[in-house]
Amino acid sequence: MAADTLTLVLPDPAATDAFARALAPALGAGDTLLLHGPVGAGKTAFARALVTALRTRAGLPPEDVPSPTFTLVQTYDAGAFEVWHADLYRLSGPDGVLELGLDAAMGDALCLIEWPDRLGADRPASAIDLTFAYPPDGADGRILTLAGPAAALDRLRPAFMEIAT
Ligand SMILES: Nc1ncnc2c1ncn2[C@@H]1O[C@H](COP(=O)(O)OP(=O)(O)OP(=O)(O)O)[C@@H](O)[C@H]1O
Ligand SMILES: [Mg+2]
Repeated sequence: MAADTLTLVLPDPAATDAFARALAPALGAGDTLLLHGPVGAGKTAFARALVTALRTRAGLPPEDVPSPTFTLVQTYDAGAFEVWHADLYRLSGPDGVLELGLDAAMGDALCLIEWPDRLGADRPASAIDLTFAYPPDGADGRILTLAGPAAALDRLRPAFMEIAT
């Protein structure tokens, strides 16, 4: 399948939240979002907003969504499926992915994975890459690029349109 990309300017944290809310209805069990970008780029902020949006849609109460920096994985009930939020920064190698149970979770949960380069060969072919970047001129905000199989991006495009207009 051909790869495709979409790019969006997120001028402030509220825009990151709004984008996560717009994306939520298009995501479900078996989707894997790989969250790239340097320290502080907004990977956890996006995951937090997405978990909150998914739980709200499912009629579930808000829950704290801490960074999984030290636990490596935090799991959440999103109603019809689980959400696994992982931060692999401290993982030593691909064996750790198995130990965490993340390879199995990628089949039936919605997985949000920070520092996903640690996945190595465990990276699912259908994964969608979200890259958060600082604007080049030191301006506020973030630039977000989505890349992945064309069919997956077609599914997410309406959320882009909602935020970009
Ligand atoms: N669109 C945005 N514009 C400006 N600031 C933003 C935007 N989105 C999120 N932020 C802010 O950027 C910071 C992102 O921190 P966060 O912990 O999410 O980074 P991270 O990418 O997960 O870093 P790490 O690699 O350490 O896990 C937060 O302070 C958040 O409020
Ligand atoms: Mg983080």
